[in-house]
Amino acid sequence: MEDTELIENEAQREAETAQDSHALYEIKMKFLGRTGKVTALLKNMREIEADKRPAFGKRVNDLRESLERKFALLEEKLKKRELERRLAAEEIDVTVPGRRFKPGALHPVTRVRDKLVDLFAGIGFEVFEGPEIEDQYYNFTALNTPEDHPARDMQDTFYLSNGFLLRTQTSAGQIRVMESRKPPIKIVSPGRVFRSDDDATHSPMFHQMEGLVVDRGITLCDLSGMLDEFARAMFTKETKTRLRPSYFPFTEPSVEVDVSCFSCGGKGCPLCKGTGWIEVLGAGMVNRKVLKNCGIDPDEYSGFAFGLGLERIAMLKYGINNIKLLTENDVRFLAQFKD
Ligand code: DAH
Repeated sequence: MEDTELIENEAQREAETAQDSHALYEIKMKFLGRTGKVTALLKNMREIEADKRPAFGKRVNDLRESLERKFALLEEKLKKRELERRLAAEEIDVTVPGRRFKPGALHPVTRVRDKLVDLFAGIGFEVFEGPEIEDQYYNFTALNTPEDHPARDMQDTFYLSNGFLLRTQTSAGQIRVMESRKPPIKIVSPGRVFRSDDDATHSPMFHQMEGLVVDRGITLCDLSGMLDEFARAMFTKETKTRLRPSYFPFTEPSVEVDVSCFSCGGKGCPLCKGTGWIEVLGAGMVNRKVLKNCGIDPDEYSGFAFGLGLERIAMLKYGINNIKLLTENDVRFLAQFKD
């Protein structure tokens, strides 16, 4: 009988020291669990005189019930405190304005490329992507570039081992297309090109887009008409084109193509350096030798080709004064191209 009182006091004291519901549970098990102290009391029943057993039994049961109530009360208190703490720690102020979602934007060079691909796909051109690693044959020889041409120089071209090089122009892709298909051919070929060149308007890696049309009866007039379409779509509806004689080994005749200045409309301004015209691309009639190199009969077929620099177009169109801005990945710069 005295034991029950001692146990009750002990349990009470210990229970009050519990800092959280888990600790309380441990203490509860120590007294009321299957191997707990209260349970142990019942195991002693047999040692008690028979006439005192009912009273003892009742006493132990009362103790069990009283302790169960006490533990339950304490548990409720602790659980409540724990919940309050958790709610305080996880508090969310639903009135705080959310973080703004910043959508990305397409890179200016990507914009120019997409616009051009769209334009040319709309008039029946297919997109062909040639390899960035080429050899001398595709990049120079088949394009009728003499062995001693300065473009082949180590100072201009990045050579790799075993006669390979990083293509210096998307024109290399023209050869691959003409070698593997029969006319009519109508392709554009956008991609990266590489040259040992580095200043405000030149970068060792940049993008070009090549165009090639080969069929029966293609003339310079076809090229000229298509360029007018291109200029109006890329710049303004009023933009005009002009062809100036030039030289490229793979075209004959060759032309440089200017567009009327879309900034001043041709009156003369800093963008066109007072001339009213801006040079945008190189073009010409595919050289008979190049057609022959690809197994196309130049007496039956003729073609025109053109090549332009995507960075140059982007810089002109968006008024960007340094090509480095296009590769620095500064979001403050890139975020401006959202139209
Ligand atoms: N490949 C020339 C360059 O990189 C550009 C070019 C000029 C491409 C005339 C052509 C073309 O297809 O006909 O400077």
